[in-house]
Amino acid sequence: MATDSTDFLIIGSGIAGLRAAIGLAGAGRVTILTKAEPSESNTGYAQGGIAAALGDDDSPALHAEDTIRAGDGLCDEAAVRVLVEQGVVYVRELLDWGMRVDRGADGQSALGREAAHSVRRVLHAGDATGREIGRVLWERVCSVSSVMTVQHALVTEVLVDQGAAVGARFFDEGGRRRDIRARAILLATGGAGQIFRETTNPLVATGDGVALGFHAGARLTDLEFVQFHPTALNRTDAPRFLISEALRGEGARLVNAGGEPFMTGYHPDGDLAPRDVVARSLVREVDRTGGAVFLTLAHLDAAYVQQRFPTIAEKCRQIGLDLARDPIPVGPAAHYIMGGVETDEWARTSLAGLFAAGEVACTGVHGANRLASNSLLEGLVFGARAAIAMQQTASAGRLKPDRRQIPFASPARVVPREMDEKGETDDKDDISAVRDLMWRAVGLFRGRDSLHDAVARLTQAYEAREARVRAAPSDGEAWRRFSLVTIARLIARAALRREESRGSHFRSDFPARDDEHWRFHAVDVRGAE
Ligand code: SIN
Repeated sequence: MATDSTDFLIIGSGIAGLRAAIGLAGAGRVTILTKAEPSESNTGYAQGGIAAALGDDDSPALHAEDTIRAGDGLCDEAAVRVLVEQGVVYVRELLDWGMRVDRGADGQSALGREAAHSVRRVLHAGDATGREIGRVLWERVCSVSSVMTVQHALVTEVLVDQGAAVGARFFDEGGRRRDIRARAILLATGGAGQIFRETTNPLVATGDGVALGFHAGARLTDLEFVQFHPTALNRTDAPRFLISEALRGEGARLVNAGGEPFMTGYHPDGDLAPRDVVARSLVREVDRTGGAVFLTLAHLDAAYVQQRFPTIAEKCRQIGLDLARDPIPVGPAAHYIMGGVETDEWARTSLAGLFAAGEVACTGVHGANRLASNSLLEGLVFGARAAIAMQQTASAGRLKPDRRQIPFASPARVVPREMDEKGETDDKDDISAVRDLMWRAVGLFRGRDSLHDAVARLTQAYEAREARVRAAPSDGEAWRRFSLVTIARLIARAALRREESRGSHFRSDFPARDDEHWRFHAVDVRGAE
């Protein structure tokens, strides 16, 4: 097997990975491994924008307050302070680097409104903000010769030696297995929406980094908290497509099949209630009325709607809908994973030499429910901080293994009741079976029996998949499936374990928040099962 070396290895090319690469470019050789094209990440699909306390009526303290309220008692407040204070600095830097944003008549950046923000705070570039940020960062990365990007690289393992991460193993574009060694390694692999049948995420969002971290022995936390976006396009003849919350920020309303607005019946903040509340209310309204739910913008100025949301308007047009005039059918879809590889405020994981930033990481800034448009901000801020910490680690020389205690062990392993009728080796269908199972049993409404059953089936699939990669390590597709089932099982287990409802995690059998027993971050680590 070929072995390469670099100084700094970055796995993933979304906002966190690219910002880290820029920070590291002057400190040594940087290698980015990316699974597809560099532009293909959740970052590129982010519509609403990037939140930052830039307005005259705003402050980092107010931004922190909103973030912590949305997080439903589980935010790490020190990390939130880093996010909102440093966020202003790093967003200004992006503007200095040439990020184009929508501006008002006075030439100032126009700030959008989204759910659970108490003021207008969301900087945006039409409805394709992530793409614009990706463009700015990618152009900068391309301008430095010390950064090399390897496309179509499927990373399967973080290499660990004497308690420290020392590199990664991957399949290159030609399907060859390769090792690359590095002084510091950053997981910046993004989200995992693809483990659910309904998702706003692109095909690459399969949670690889969480599986890599877990198998390498890093601590994971908060995996039960999965955010479901309430308004994905809901047409059987079209793929799920995000209909940004920014539309409701500009006055769009959710209505039922009878054309009646219904959200104020569920929450005093109506259409701008926290995202998890809106998503569950939407399902309840469908159950109550037996009809579909729509987003309507018909009462707004049509020219403004088309100009403010050109990408969404075009998607709607492709399926014969006029965004400004027609009711747009919407439904919930998996959108964002709040949990992930546990990190401190410098993106350091529990495994020496291994860092994580962006959606793959759990810094604690989102708690149980992420505030809209804080995700790009998190990737930007902690990607930049990872670069600083990685340089320090590399120059400190010897890496020390982490000795932190594990405060919470996973419950005893659940013994499968019986084989899934799909069978452990049904290759053709097992990914869609996992996605279907996750959507039904580990989705918006969760309960003990269905979670228990899901964990049993996923454990069985996990063991079969693990045996497969051990027996056939050069089968890239087997690794892909192993990774997917790893994170699905971890999320299902975490959801079964938390016997309360909080933020995005709703247990029908434990519908109340229970601070006395559950106000803590539950941790998973391999071997503590
Ligand atoms: C949206 O535009 O509705 C999504 C933004 C986000 O997830 O923060």
